[in-house]
Amino acid sequence: MKTVVTAAELTAAIDEERELPGCAGLKVAFVPTMGALHEGHLSLVRKAREYADLVVVSIFVNPLQFGAGEDFEKYPRTLEADAKVLEAAGADVLFAPTVEVVYPDGIEAAHAAAKLRPALQSGEVGKAFEGAARPGHFDGMLAVVARLFELVNPDFAVFGAKDAQQLFLIKRMANVEFPDLHIIEAPIVRETSGLAMSSRNRYLDATKLEVAGQLSKALKVGKAAAETLGAKPSMAVNAARARLEGVPEAKLDYLALVDPSSFELIDDSFTGRALMLIAAVVGTTRLIDNLTIDFQEPFA
Ligand code: PAF
Repeated sequence: MKTVVTAAELTAAIDEERELPGCAGLKVAFVPTMGALHEGHLSLVRKAREYADLVVVSIFVNPLQFGAGEDFEKYPRTLEADAKVLEAAGADVLFAPTVEVVYPDGIEAAHAAAKLRPALQSGEVGKAFEGAARPGHFDGMLAVVARLFELVNPDFAVFGAKDAQQLFLIKRMANVEFPDLHIIEAPIVRETSGLAMSSRNRYLDATKLEVAGQLSKALKVGKAAAETLGAKPSMAVNAARARLEGVPEAKLDYLALVDPSSFELIDDSFTGRALMLIAAVVGTTRLIDNLTIDFQEPFA
């Protein structure tokens, strides 16, 4: 695995592979990350390998997507350990740029430039759920993802399903700005407790990890209510919410059902596949998770 920092090194590393005999049409798959890698990220690397000959992974903690008072400064930075596990997982190129490489004209200028590109606006969807708790987060996320796509110029880009709202917004943005790029969704990887893997789980001690595991259990209760007992959406949400009532250490922010094709809330007339979203704060750590739930037509 080659580790590169600048845009020129990145292009050279990709071109070098393309120039090998028989590699002219080489496909590139890209996995953007913020580092602090765990098994969930490595599953993205393996998924990328299914699609492409060359797998590029980026590690960049993007200042634009952190709000005031969020954990930008203390976000875990573990580049050396990350490089080791990426190499073992079969990544070909690790792109670990500095802020100056990603935003050569500075963060303020990048922010202002992104505002002028309509496809980079997260809009109403970006203000709901995670966006309501983290104003500006999704616009900053879209700005960096678009910039990284421009730098890497991949054929495929792989994202985890855990960040469902992020994935929805990236697909919508890429459709307009990068129409030839295929966005691949990789399933959520979970601990044995059911807790969705996240870089932020490392902030949790054993007691908090146990509490955090209750989020996925609540989602499962909602799913069972709908798929086994035939509950309508509002009842499924109530069932999941009730499961969390016995867990006061998890401060629920939202528990909601959306239509994955629009990310809008569904009502009780909805049938088909919905996404149940949950966010809660455990200690000082914000956690999110989601689960698909199929709502059937009621029997006549
Ligand atoms: O999901 C993440 O780790 C980040 O939001 C991403 C997509 C790498 C952009 O910084």
